[in-house]
Amino acid sequence: MYIGSIDQGTTSSRFIIFNKGGEIISMGQKEHEQIYPQAGWVEHNAEEIWQNVQEVIGLALGKAGLSARDIAAVGITNQRETTVVWNKKTGKPYHNALVWQDTRVGSELAELAQVGGMDRFRAKTGLPLATYFSGLKLRWLLNHVPGLREDALNGEALFGTMDTYISWQLTGGTEGGIHITDVTNASRTQLMDLATCAWDDEILQVLSIPKAMLPEIKASSQVYGNSKGVLEGVPLAGILGDQQAALVGQTCFDPGQGKNTYGTGCFLLMNTGKQAIPSQFGLLTTVAYQLGNEPVHYALEGSVAIAGSLVQWLRDNLGLIQNSPDIENLAKEVEDNGGCYFVPAFSGLYAPYWKQDARGVLVGLTSYVNKSHIARAALEATAFQTWEVLEAMEKDAGISISSLRVDGGMVVNELLMQFQSDILGQEVICPKIIETTALGAAYAAGLAVGYWENLEDLKKNWAIQHRWNSQMDDSKRSHMKKQWKKAVSKSFNWED
Ligand code: G3P
Repeated sequence: MYIGSIDQGTTSSRFIIFNKGGEIISMGQKEHEQIYPQAGWVEHNAEEIWQNVQEVIGLALGKAGLSARDIAAVGITNQRETTVVWNKKTGKPYHNALVWQDTRVGSELAELAQVGGMDRFRAKTGLPLATYFSGLKLRWLLNHVPGLREDALNGEALFGTMDTYISWQLTGGTEGGIHITDVTNASRTQLMDLATCAWDDEILQVLSIPKAMLPEIKASSQVYGNSKGVLEGVPLAGILGDQQAALVGQTCFDPGQGKNTYGTGCFLLMNTGKQAIPSQFGLLTTVAYQLGNEPVHYALEGSVAIAGSLVQWLRDNLGLIQNSPDIENLAKEVEDNGGCYFVPAFSGLYAPYWKQDARGVLVGLTSYVNKSHIARAALEATAFQTWEVLEAMEKDAGISISSLRVDGGMVVNELLMQFQSDILGQEVICPKIIETTALGAAYAAGLAVGYWENLEDLKKNWAIQHRWNSQMDDSKRSHMKKQWKKAVSKSFNWED
């Protein structure tokens, strides 16, 4: 028997089948359309995504010659915060999903901050006011889609992040699909009280969000129900937001353990155990996971909006490279960045700045700079942003991290990983299985059905594949950090 994991990410959906050793048996993957109706707006078609999810499940099963009967349980992990509302009777979404990167609610932040400032909801939710989280996206939909508020009040319109929408579809949709989310995804809506892990009536009232449309909040690992259709009969038994899933996949179960995932964005999470630590240095306090009836574990998170998506932008919008992996060879043609720095504040700047009016800048340009320098600066941007959140994390948690566990698509980029270690002046380590996001959701599902006994079982599957150690001297490192900070300051206050 195996465990299946649906990984519904920002750019694609995947289904990965794992064995007991945490090894990949088979995988299916399909990209979906990124819809940009205007500058700063990013949408997904939830129905297209559900179609793709079903397709990739069929694909992965088919490739391995397996059927639903070979899958002991399925887990879901997902791009967090992305907000969808659909009709319970027809299954039709009322609007395209508003993606986490979407900044359309930016103009509403100042008005909300008039009472209590930008940290108005932070004590309860762990999150500052920002365009990033689901609550304000949901409010925008309720205020702009005709008839939606009425249907929401009647309990006919359902809200969810992508885990919720897929769980509902997977367990029967209009024929009795369950309307649930897990505690990690709920913690990203800015509607949940971190201490009680329940929807917060006061925030719902301030944002005029009808409670009837919200899913039930569940643990991250438990049997929620049985799948219908393509995974007929398979228990749905794990749900985790993708960054929390990577934390579980990296088996960071002890307080102080953390990981950095390099995907569309870049997200550094550190397990803080049963204690939710408030951040003073621009990080988020969030739920790490809840396994069955065990207490909730919390994390500090440094979220960086743009990492791999900058490489895609260089490919798609500038035509600088043909395929994303080509960025490394292009960057390798030069020794250094030639003095240029690229701050990709395309969705404003997230941690540790939280400046929604920041916009991307490329600075330090001279006639000497060529496209290889720009490619290098683009890769370095991810490492600099990671350094800034790691520094904030060490200050918030009061500990120093001696080595950084990494995963995600960009870790195959040697140049980036070496530079990451150089700029941190610390060891960077990558495990054998870099698909830790999908693996984390598989672990959550497998634990719930007894496929894996306990956390010790999971830890045995973790092994180091690669280490990078810093080769940069201190003076160069501090010069580059200083230049980066200067570049960041040029990105502020750019919105009209
Ligand atoms: O919070 C957004 C995050 O969950 C998106 O992750 O991997 O799709 O960049 P990813």
